Amino acid sequence: MSNVTIMDHPLIQHKLGIMRRKTTSTKEFRDLVSEVAMLICYEATRKLALADIEIETPLVKTIAKEIAGKKLCIVPILRAGLHMADGILNLIPNAKVGHVGLYRNEETLEPVEYFCKLPSDAADREIFIVDPMLATGGSAVAAIDILKKRGITKIHFLCLIAAPEGVERLTKAHPDVEIYIGNLDERLNEKGYILPGLGDAGDRIYGTK
Ligand code: PRP
Ligand code: URA
Repeated sequence: MSNVTIMDHPLIQHKLGIMRRKTTSTKEFRDLVSEVAMLICYEATRKLALADIEIETPLVKTIAKEIAGKKLCIVPILRAGLHMADGILNLIPNAKVGHVGLYRNEETLEPVEYFCKLPSDAADREIFIVDPMLATGGSAVAAIDILKKRGITKIHFLCLIAAPEGVERLTKAHPDVEIYIGNLDERLNEKGYILPGLGDAGDRIYGTK
């Protein structure tokens, strides 16, 4: 799967190891979501185009580099994607932010859309959808469907943990999307939770359970 990158960086593995523990506090978990998102973003932005810019150092004039166009947009899937977006904004402070609200119906496991607000020029931008968990893949596929219906084509999807079932569904539905995964876990359980996983990401970020 040429468009799937599984991060195997020791820092990510270490931080995910802390996040998986059931004893990790809400605050620590939330901070780690942002940190791991930043590390994945570092890889996901590797192919961004650069432009030359003339600058002056304290010694001489020289040609430096800057990100060309700066047309980026981060799209967190609510709720759990919000803290990934916060982390990434530390690295790309000028990016615009769109929001897609989806929750999984607990019985069917299918996503239900309840919110969508995107920058008016989103179709001109390179989009980074962020959500900590890619489980059945329903939410990721639905979010990308929503964006594509609005004419958006340049899409990347970033998650902390994925199940093989979700990766398969997402790559089948949207083979053009670049996918970046912190860790590929073993499988889903009968309730659609990732094993070993880290539990319900939204509940752990917001302390709602
Ligand atoms: C979680 C997670 C993803 C979705 C993944 O959100 O943040 O959006 O589940 O599952 P899927 O791949 O099977 O669709 P949830 O529906 O729990 O909503 P929340 O973020 O509001 O808690
Ligand atoms: N959503 C989560 O937050 N965790 C899972 O393991 C699966 C879906």
